Amino acid sequence: MQLALIVVWIGSAILLIASHFVDADVKDGFRGYKVYRLTIQSQRQLDLINRISEDVDQKGLTDEVDVWTELPRVFSPQRRNSFTALILLSPEKQAAFLETFDSESISHEVTIPDLAVAIEEESRFSLEDTRAVENGGMTWTAYHRYSTMVSWMDSLRSRYPDLVNEKVMIGKTYEGRNMYLLKVGKPRADGKMKPGIYMDANIHAREWIAGATLTFMVNKMVTEYETNSTARRMMNEIDWYIVPSANPDGYEYSHAAPNNRLWRKTRRVNPFSTDTGCDANRNFDFKWMVAGAVQTPRENTYAGAFPYSEIENVHVTEALLALVPQVKGMLSFHSAAQMWLLPWAYGYERSEDYDELMRVGRAATDALTAVYGIPYEVGTAPDILYRAAGGTLDWAKAKAGAKYSYTPELRDLGFGFVLPPNQIIPSGLETFEAVNVIAQAIFEEFGPTLN
Ligand SMILES: *[C@@H]1O[C@H](CO)[C@@H](O)[C@H](O)[C@H]1NC(C)=O
Repeated sequence: MQLALIVVWIGSAILLIASHFVDADVKDGFRGYKVYRLTIQSQRQLDLINRISEDVDQKGLTDEVDVWTELPRVFSPQRRNSFTALILLSPEKQAAFLETFDSESISHEVTIPDLAVAIEEESRFSLEDTRAVENGGMTWTAYHRYSTMVSWMDSLRSRYPDLVNEKVMIGKTYEGRNMYLLKVGKPRADGKMKPGIYMDANIHAREWIAGATLTFMVNKMVTEYETNSTARRMMNEIDWYIVPSANPDGYEYSHAAPNNRLWRKTRRVNPFSTDTGCDANRNFDFKWMVAGAVQTPRENTYAGAFPYSEIENVHVTEALLALVPQVKGMLSFHSAAQMWLLPWAYGYERSEDYDELMRVGRAATDALTAVYGIPYEVGTAPDILYRAAGGTLDWAKAKAGAKYSYTPELRDLGFGFVLPPNQIIPSGLETFEAVNVIAQAIFEEFGPTLN
């Protein structure tokens, strides 16, 4: 009875909100758009925000109203840091939505007063960034284009040939860009096989901090091999396989114009739809479409018409399968939720290693939090958020033997996807500590050699 009342009430709130929509195109590079942080204090408030999120996604209106925070379905007040939600509102939508939030006693504060300004600032290069030559033009005080990431890999390989073992072209993207797998690590003198860890980023295009953090950590491991004992141990004990961008077409598109900044999907032209791309992190062939994914091309969680419809996923999969049985860990970096997710994401079943993955995940995030105090939550996606099938996380554990498979959701600090570039180095330093903990756990369990 009570449930029915809530459903009716939410239904009418949504109706009220939806009636304000006319069309949904980003105007003028998000000029006047604001991001608000909402504080959620009850199941009823959480239901409302989740319904708004689903509703705008289904209607293809996320250019006007977009809930940026991954939210759980169930309210539990003891949760550490998830009961705030970031929401993006276009100028036309602000008044009506704030009125709704006020009438429901959902408190709100502005975290980004004008998204257009934030995007301009985020995309600004300092003189040092534009003049950088020594890392192939790469710096970690700005967000760089894919071509710069590639020249960084070349530069690293030519400067540290004994530590950067391989840069392999693993295939071309839909739009024809080359995808690369970088192998770094100090080869053993006896030639025996070390345990391996695979890491990638930016399968979701707009999550720029993911690729910036990953390249920072790899750069640190290689360039500080001689000077930093942590970096040296990581390189001595583990072989690292890195794909800095698992969705280069989407990533480039999100850079191409301010209006594209919030692009998440791939850039494939869908055969029977005018909507482009799909969520590559729902497109892997393990429990494909069983939960948390849709068959509507317009939506942000569109899983593609069939598993591996996305050529980029085929390349990542083949690269990883070629590393079986060496790869014992997989980290696919995302943002922005401050969570360290572990399998299974498709459903509520526990993996047989659940306790170990939780223990190592907790140790990793404790080390991360110790650096700057940024709190993280650890758990499976269904436990702390919702079910989501077809992602790298589950596939790598189920099919590629990567026991310690994780999806880190990096810091947001109220900025969501548009994290200022002065956050790259802090994010890199704190995440480096977490990755080190995982490397040590894998080394202790599987090392020093596999054969
Ligand atoms: C090595 O790097 C880590 C992580 O940034 C840092 O905490 C540590 O102080 C560094 N050690 C040395 C010897 O520089």
